[in-house]
Amino acid sequence: MNVSKFEGREPVSMIIDADTGIDDALAILYAVKSPAIRLEAVCTVFGNIDVDQATDNTLRLIQLAGARDRVQVVKGASKPLEREFQGSTSHVHGENGIGGAVLPPSDQLPLGEAAADYLVRIANERPGEVTLVLMGRMTNLALALRRDPSIASKFRSVVVMGGNVLVPGNVTPVAEANFWGDPESAAVLMEAGLPLTVIGLDVTLQTLLTRDALDELGKTCLPENAPLVDFLKDSFAIYFDFYQQVNKLDNACPLHDPLAVIAAVFPEMVTCTTLHASIACGDRLTDGMVVTDRRVFPSVGNPVSFALEVDADTALEELYSVFK
Ligand code: BDR
Ligand code: CA
Repeated sequence: MNVSKFEGREPVSMIIDADTGIDDALAILYAVKSPAIRLEAVCTVFGNIDVDQATDNTLRLIQLAGARDRVQVVKGASKPLEREFQGSTSHVHGENGIGGAVLPPSDQLPLGEAAADYLVRIANERPGEVTLVLMGRMTNLALALRRDPSIASKFRSVVVMGGNVLVPGNVTPVAEANFWGDPESAAVLMEAGLPLTVIGLDVTLQTLLTRDALDELGKTCLPENAPLVDFLKDSFAIYFDFYQQVNKLDNACPLHDPLAVIAAVFPEMVTCTTLHASIACGDRLTDGMVVTDRRVFPSVGNPVSFALEVDADTALEELYSVFK
């Protein structure tokens, strides 16, 4: 039985923007299965892999989740706003971005509209209705904001997985992958006046999926969800290995993107602090760094809400619940 903490709330209309890698895939499956979410579309972007692979992975995942009739896939940017794409992170997410797991091809076609145009259109057609969760480079929304700055106030909320405030980075000593991969776009978001919440490494590194928990989920999930959990077990194998080597985690990995989706629906699971923030752009050492002004009288940057604490156990329980 599904024991999600939904408890009769109106489902949140959601668009996800993803560079569909391993943790993005879990976040998308969670969003499809959650009764608290009406997932309308997944926009794709370069990042963990190139945008064509991200789009193909997304189409296959949506089919796996049985959601082809209700979730559109919208192809987005192939490179950062002002830079070149630095290339895939196959050492983290595998050659195909989903840990080498093989999913059947889908004959669903991406929408015939670029992701940035789609975001502009939806925000204008339904102001205040849609929650947007960004889980890769923020290029699609940055392009959309450049095209029509008025959309900044037209999303119900915008939740971003990216950045780090009080903990080290994961690509450089000071920067997290999604901000580092397109710092100019992250900077556009910080300055746009969006209803923005940033879910960064401060909280995602505390929200750990263990190999044992995933195995256990395979035993306790509903039969109809067994193919999804089998896929996750295949896909996450190299992710656990990566985090063992790089973060010395013991058969566990952080849930970066899934936590962003969960926090978009259950904001009470994170504790946020508003800080003046800017994104460093234009210096190899600090590119993508979140510079927060934590002085008594902050004056540099714009006020942004950063999640700095998380109720990780409750978030994990919520994540598992949608498969049971
Ligand atoms: C972020 O970078 C990507 O590798 C993950 O999918 C996540 O969005 C974590 O830094
Ligand atoms: Ca991602």
